[in-house]
Amino acid sequence: MRFRPLRPEPAPTGTVLTPPAAPPARMRAQVLDAVGDTAVLRPAEVEVPAPALSEVLVRVVAAGVNQIDAKTRTGAGVSGQICHYPATLGYDFSGVVVKAPFEAYPFPPGTEVFGMSAFPRSPGSYAEYVVAPALSIARKPASLSHVEAAGVPLAALTAWGIVVETALAHEGQRILIHAGSGGVGHFAVQFAAYFGAHVIATGSARNAHWLRDLGAAVVVDHSTQRFEEVATEVDVVIDLVGNDSAQTGTRSLAVLRPGGLLIEVPRGTWPGFTEDAAAAGVRATGYTVIPDGGVLATIARLLDSGAVQVYIDRVFDLADAADAHAELERGHARGKVVLRVSDD
Ligand SMILES: NC(=O)c1ccc[n+]([C@@H]2O[C@H](COP(=O)([O-])OP(=O)(O)OC[C@H]3O[C@@H](n4cnc5c(N)ncnc54)[C@H](OP(=O)(O)O)[C@@H]3O)[C@@H](O)[C@H]2O)c1
Repeated sequence: MRFRPLRPEPAPTGTVLTPPAAPPARMRAQVLDAVGDTAVLRPAEVEVPAPALSEVLVRVVAAGVNQIDAKTRTGAGVSGQICHYPATLGYDFSGVVVKAPFEAYPFPPGTEVFGMSAFPRSPGSYAEYVVAPALSIARKPASLSHVEAAGVPLAALTAWGIVVETALAHEGQRILIHAGSGGVGHFAVQFAAYFGAHVIATGSARNAHWLRDLGAAVVVDHSTQRFEEVATEVDVVIDLVGNDSAQTGTRSLAVLRPGGLLIEVPRGTWPGFTEDAAAAGVRATGYTVIPDGGVLATIARLLDSGAVQVYIDRVFDLADAADAHAELERGHARGKVVLRVSDD
């Protein structure tokens, strides 16, 4: 077990932050005018968004790229919720607070923060400035660069919600994690191992050593071996693949112990999963990420303590967002893909 107790969070140092310059009226962003292939992403000059009430304005240094961004760009994902075009994609960011909602707000202007935007209700983080709900940000881990921090929020919050809050990971529990080497998966493997679970992860051979370093006890190469031959009597399956690839979801029912739990994360690849699970004598649930800044602060402490790491596979400039989407859509990113938006 890799458990290391957390120290209490250090009190604020009292450092006087240099207030950032007032935001300009307009900013660089990557936008789309309609859904489609990667070519719909284009550079644009757009208005800097204005925060309202409890929202925060953040100057973005780096923006994480997630599968939901790519799915939304194609017309799936949350594309139906986009309020107007041109639209700016992106949930994840790391940057510097420019406008706080009130004077005593815990992250005053100049504070380095990371978190999630409220896209699609407001413009996303593929831009020089983003508005975020005050409860969806946390102080950036001091030991991480902005590029590293930008790869954390959505993937790590999803992994935490699944592994800690839904699976209730604990010592001796057997957890099978499909796509352990992806953005969500590499955090899920680490959280499950941190809380003492016996982790079986699927991933390709090139990622096997790395997955073991992250805490997987067993790695199954999904391209050469059927996971059913290795994983049996599993307490929880975390399916980050779904039924689009080799019926991964449906096949997972057979490896669960009676009453075990399937957490089916990709949406829409297996519409009848709850009924199929009930017929097989196991429990099943979907999952949707909750952008909780308090949980993100806990994750930040784990990152700063070294107990958990974020792996950044590739970094693209904001102008190359289309290439970043193409990379993610190939389906074999190790860890995270991030956009560099501006200088620190
Ligand atoms: N509901 C929510 O709130 C929520 C939140 C986050 C993500 N998601 C969804 O969860 C899924 C995973 O997201 P992600 O960001 O982790 O994706 P990702 O980073 O793009 O995942 C890439 C990884 O998938 C692995 N992979 C591909 N095919 C596989 C297979 N057949 N078996 C095992 N591993 C396979 C690859 O490993 P190898 O290269 O080693 O093959 C690669 O490392 C996506 O569908 C995403 O939309 C949902």
